[in-house]
Amino acid sequence: MRRLFPLLADERPEASAAPEEGRWSIDDLADAYAYPEPAASGRGVWLRANMVSSLDGAAHHEGHSQPLSSEADMRIFGVLRGLADAVVVGAQTVRQEGYGPAREREVFARRRAAAGQGPAPAIAVVSAGLDLDFSDPLFMRPLVPTVLVTGAAAPSDRIEAARDAGAEVVFAGEGAAVDPARLTGALAERGLRRLLTEGGPRLLGQLVSGGALDELCLTVAPRVTSGEAARIVDGPGMQVPVDFRLAGVLEEDGFLFTRYQRTAPAAE
Ligand SMILES: NC(=O)c1ccc[n+]([C@@H]2O[C@H](COP(=O)([O-])OP(=O)(O)OC[C@H]3O[C@@H](n4cnc5c(N)ncnc54)[C@H](OP(=O)(O)O)[C@@H]3O)[C@@H](O)[C@H]2O)c1
Repeated sequence: MRRLFPLLADERPEASAAPEEGRWSIDDLADAYAYPEPAASGRGVWLRANMVSSLDGAAHHEGHSQPLSSEADMRIFGVLRGLADAVVVGAQTVRQEGYGPAREREVFARRRAAAGQGPAPAIAVVSAGLDLDFSDPLFMRPLVPTVLVTGAAAPSDRIEAARDAGAEVVFAGEGAAVDPARLTGALAERGLRRLLTEGGPRLLGQLVSGGALDELCLTVAPRVTSGEAARIVDGPGMQVPVDFRLAGVLEEDGFLFTRYQRTAPAAE
């Protein structure tokens, strides 16, 4: 792993707190990806997305993101989870990727305790139809209760099933769907302010159009896939593109681990 940006004023490796070459420890990566204060967004909550894309813009290969990933990508994926209060994920990714609960990792214990966080991030599943298997370990056996984010008019029998399984149900919309502009506020009200979304592309499209995305951690995989796969953001076109500034780039085995932050505060 090496840092390509920002370059240090003094580029001698020994002048850096983090190693410039070689294997970065989990702590080195956690320092590099530390959350900004949630207040920096202007909304008291910080929403970061972690996504991987092929060189030609595909967000998956044959329905899975794993073929685009690498060992270093999975290391960073784990670090971003280790820093988050909650992982926000669309129901289709949960169904397709077989999501389980986040696990406790000793390497983050001290850091999480100091930040007032529980032992692992809550998984917050966003769904309108609630066609989810509530007998799954994600709902029945999490370390911290899984959160189901939905709309007030979502199927009531499925809401009951989720509650019976132990999920915490959060409403953020008047219809069956979640109002994307209300999602982060509804989680912040429950003390979940350092948010990480792992997509998928349709959920990310909603969050971008709702003005809720503060940061994008995008892995660019040195692979070309062609085909019909969605881009990492799959939603309605925006009238005015949203600008981000480059905050960091790491590299390992030709994979680029980029980090971009929004230049203007996201929507209220
Ligand atoms: N490249 C990457 O980094 C990455 C990351 C994640 C996933 N993926 C890939 O992306 C694919 C899945 O992504 P996807 O875009 O099809 O689906 P997705 O975004 O994971 O999930 C879409 C689902 O989320 C729920 N949803 C989204 N917006 C909502 C809203 N406003 N209110 C309520 N529910 C809402 C709906 O669930 P209901 O249908 O239950 O109502 C919707 O069907 C998979 O192939 C996966 O491998 C790639």
